Amino acid sequence: MTGVISKQLQPIYDKPMVYYPLNTLMLAGIRDILVISTPRDVTLFEQLLGDGSRLGISLRYAVQPQPNGIAEALIIAERVWGSAPVTLILGDNLFHGQSALFRTAVSSNTGATIFGYHVHNPSRYGVVDIDANGRITSIEEKPKQPKSHLAIPGLYIYDERASTIAQGLVRSARGELEITDVHNAYLAEGGLRVLTMDRSTIWMDTGTPESLLEAANYIHAIERRQGRKVACIEETALRMNFLTHDEYLASVAQLPHSSYRSYCMELVEQ
Ligand code: G1P
Repeated sequence: MTGVISKQLQPIYDKPMVYYPLNTLMLAGIRDILVISTPRDVTLFEQLLGDGSRLGISLRYAVQPQPNGIAEALIIAERVWGSAPVTLILGDNLFHGQSALFRTAVSSNTGATIFGYHVHNPSRYGVVDIDANGRITSIEEKPKQPKSHLAIPGLYIYDERASTIAQGLVRSARGELEITDVHNAYLAEGGLRVLTMDRSTIWMDTGTPESLLEAANYIHAIERRQGRKVACIEETALRMNFLTHDEYLASVAQLPHSSYRSYCMELVEQ
């Protein structure tokens, strides 16, 4: 499936996968966003999303030449922005129903914030274990024998030291700069917070064909029931006041004719 096109550009039901994490950042009030992809795919993201002005945000693009691990994104981002607080979201992670939690988490972060989410099979993920007082006792990447059921979703919030920490990492056995090692570095100095997402929050990762189908079915069911789209980025830009009413209309007018565009137009009429 990814032979000629990035996974994150493939659809989850009625829109490209990347819309979902982009929407999550926008709902958290984040308006300066760097999209990092491979040399092959980065221009496709740029064609799809542009400079962000039609969403009232700033979008920039950077390349990760080799798959050197998620933590390298922090180093790449520093080259673009300099040293600054950052929130990192993985392009295949889909969240629904938690915008207030994320907004508060970003604005209240000191050090680093990760999330914990109860899953049936945590071995596929980073796993955090906490004691009775909610203090973190361990963080492990894809443990064969997980100490808890709390997986760590791909949404991480950092202060301005994240890039320096990433630069100091040693590559793991699989040759990558591991995001889990960044978190362990924050943990060692007492600067790591974990917030648990309760079961009313939906977190799906879409990294396997089966999880991709499950996510598409989920979005389809919610959208049909509510008559509202999940992760319509134009709608979010309007509701977050990133766009005025007139700017929204101009933005939607640029969309190709589709059910997605019709939905955006109907919102105005409503
Ligand atoms: C990555 C992280 C892992 C995290 C997961 C969330 O794993 O390394 O800690 O739990 O994303 O999707 P990957 O899916 O890239 O193997």
